[in-house]
Order: sequence, then structure tokens, then C-alpha cells
Amino acid sequence: MNLLVVGGGGREHAIIKKLKENPSVETIYALPGNGGIAQDAVCVPEIGTKDIPAIVDFAKAHAIDFAVVAPDDPLALGCVDRLHEVGIPCFGPDAKAARIEASKVFSKNLMKKYGIPTAAYEVFDDPKTALEYLKTASFPIVIKADGLALGKGVLIPQNLQEAEDAVKTIMEDKAFGDSGNEIVIEEFLTGPEVSVLAFTDGSAIRPMVSSMDHKRAGDNDTGLNTGGMGTVAPNPYYTADVAQVCMDTIFLPTLAAMRAEGCPFKGCLYFGLMITPKGPKVIEYNCRFGDPETQVVLPLLKTDLLTVMQAVENETLADLEVEWSDGAAACVILASGGYPSHYEKGKVMTFPESTPANVTLYHAGDKLDGDDRLVTSGGRVLGVTAAASTLKEALTDAYAAAETVDFDGKYLRHDIGRRALAAMEER
Ligand code: AMP
Ligand code: GLY
Repeated sequence: MNLLVVGGGGREHAIIKKLKENPSVETIYALPGNGGIAQDAVCVPEIGTKDIPAIVDFAKAHAIDFAVVAPDDPLALGCVDRLHEVGIPCFGPDAKAARIEASKVFSKNLMKKYGIPTAAYEVFDDPKTALEYLKTASFPIVIKADGLALGKGVLIPQNLQEAEDAVKTIMEDKAFGDSGNEIVIEEFLTGPEVSVLAFTDGSAIRPMVSSMDHKRAGDNDTGLNTGGMGTVAPNPYYTADVAQVCMDTIFLPTLAAMRAEGCPFKGCLYFGLMITPKGPKVIEYNCRFGDPETQVVLPLLKTDLLTVMQAVENETLADLEVEWSDGAAACVILASGGYPSHYEKGKVMTFPESTPANVTLYHAGDKLDGDDRLVTSGGRVLGVTAAASTLKEALTDAYAAAETVDFDGKYLRHDIGRRALAAMEER
């Protein structure tokens, strides 16, 4: 089979490595892919993830049997719809279902209408009314741009002045472009956060192993928000009891709500949850695999990934048991110094001759230079992942391997998994 994967980060590398385990897979094309992914797939750097006509033309010309659309932008732009129109089976939601991530107003209204637990909120489409509302609000409060904003569209002002600045930044200065035409202002919730990715064909659901992201740039959750500096799986806060509550009050009701709205969700639905004192609530939905959650979740998947993805596409997931390893995984992101603000690119990367069998290097932001050397090309450069029987071992192995890769300005957090280990010891 010839497969196509749209995307070019660490998440896509993890998906590609897993798809390759299926012996019927001949060639995987990655659009655009990256320097490191080129070791596992045929990369096409000329085709960007938002160029839907070029993606569709490429798929037709290369006899693609199955496509996986991983990032939010092409999903929201209808990449899956267009591929389906030319008869190519795909994994990923259509544009209507992708609104669950692409519009916070849509997802918040969906949760309200169907009684799915989430933070209380109001929607505003003009800054004047929003500013008026804030005068009577209590702080901290959460302000979210409606649309996609590279994970940066959430601001948590601590007082009225900061909140007024936030509204102006989003709605008047248009810091996130048209994504800020509408905003959601919502209640500030507290509690540990859990990411749960789930395979779903619209009716059946198979939650994956839970995970924990580390979004802030600095140790002890300080500094700016990033795309994610590291992950661990499973997440100790996601106990069997919490999982059951989530299934009954969040997962199944969300799928039913999407069906009732005429946009059944097929693909990977990502539930960003907060385990509040009043129970689990939805912080956000994503219409796709998380990055870097995928890098710790897929290594623990025992069932063949292509088989699961085909069952989602064919709506036969109810007939498939999806199995997971009992172990744990940890991913430490190696970033370019300065990320998520200004950072330099083009630094030559050096690698060990071999890595231990339980360690995988997922390439996120690198490319091949004119001399075929891997050089950095992004903020998040590499995800060093280790799988082991315990989280402690996985973290030790991931950090040891992270030492063996180098490039000028290499930056990493040193406390990935610390909170998870502490939570496990408290039990
Ligand atoms: P998001 O981009 O929606 O994942 O939000 C980024 C981060 O903001 C989340 O991971 C949370 O830590 C935080 N956040 C979002 N919404 C809330 C909320 N209602 N209460 C507290 N923190 C929140
Ligand atoms: N790691 C968070 C996300 O993928 O949105």
C-alpha cells in the first residue's frame, strides 16, 4: 500500500514510524515531512500543509491507498473532504467536524447545549461589550480567541487591567488575525490537566493511553506557553474511576452531540481535560493527535495503527479491540534556545552512532542542508522518547538519550514527569 501523511513535525514522525510496522505498507509520502522524517518516508518539502489542491493532486498522481491528515489547519480547510471527493480513504475529520477545534464558540456552545461539563463562559463579538462584562468579572479569568492560533490564543489575565489589554490584543490589534473576531471569556478552573486522545468512527470510541503535557517553556511551569516541551504517559491523575466518569459524561456525550449536529466526528479526538474538585471538565477539544502527546502514546499501542485507522474510516471500530502496553513512555523535547520567542536556525545537529532499543528520536524541526547534514529549522527540534516498564525508567532513559544529541543552543526542560512521579508516590 502507498500511504500519504500530511504534516511535518514530531507527531507526524511518530505516526509514520508506527504505520511502517504494517508489512503491507510499501511507501509512505510525507507532505512536507522534514529532514529526520526523510529516513522513514519520502518527503515532499515543496507541498505545504495548507495547499489542499496540491495535496489532492499529489495523492491522485501517486496512487495513494490511504491518507492521514494530522495537523489542524488542513483539517479545518477541508483536506479530508477533498481527498474523499476523489475517492481516497483518509483518517481525519471533515471540515464540519473539525470545527470542534477550529471554533471555540462552536465547541463551547456544543458543550452547553448537550450538558457536557466545561468552564462557564460568555461569547463576545465586539470589544466594547467584552470590556463592559469584564468590569463585573472576578479574576483570574480566561480569554480565548475563537479560531486557530497555534496554541497561543488563550490568555489568563490576573486583573482587570490585564484583561482589558488581552481583549485589545485579540480583538483590536488582531494578534491572532481573524481568529480573534470573536472571543470566549470563561471561568478559571483549577486541577491537574490530562490529555486523552481517542480513536472514534463517530459512534464507537477507543480512548488511547492518557498523557500529560508540559506546556510552559521553563522548569516548574514558568515562562511562556509553548507547543509542548515534553510529555509522559500514562497520566497518574487519570485513574480508572476518572476514566469511567469521562467516558459517561464527556466522551460518549460529545460523540452523540456531534452526530446530533449533523457532523459526526471521525478520526482522533483529543480531549484536554482538567480534573477539578467538581469532577473532570473539558478545557479544549482538538480535532487531531496532540503534539508531543502522540510521541508517548503511539509507542504504547500494540494493535496495528493502520488497521485501527482503517476501522475508523470504514466505521467498524466497534468490532476492533485496541490493545495497549502496560508500560510507560516519556518524551523530552530538545528546542532551539530562545523558543518560543526568537531563536536561530541552521545549527548542525550531531547524533550518537546508535540509540538504545527503547529510545526513539522523533524529528520535529530539522532539515537536510546542501551537504546532507541535519540542521535545525524550527523551535521544537527533536522529541527524545523512551518507553519502559515504569515511568521512572522511561524518564531516566529519555534524559540519558537527550544528552547524546547536540546542537548549538540546545534547550530542554529538566523536570518533565516530575509532577507525575510525585503524584504516583502520593498514592
Ligand atoms: P488551550 O490552548 O485551550 O489548551 O489552553 C492553554 C492552557 O490554558 C491550558 O492547557 C490550560 O492550562 C489553560 N486554560 C485554558 N482554559 C482554562 C480554564 N478555563 N481555566 C484554567 N486554565 C485554563
Ligand atoms: N500538545 C498540545 C496540542 O497538541 O495541542
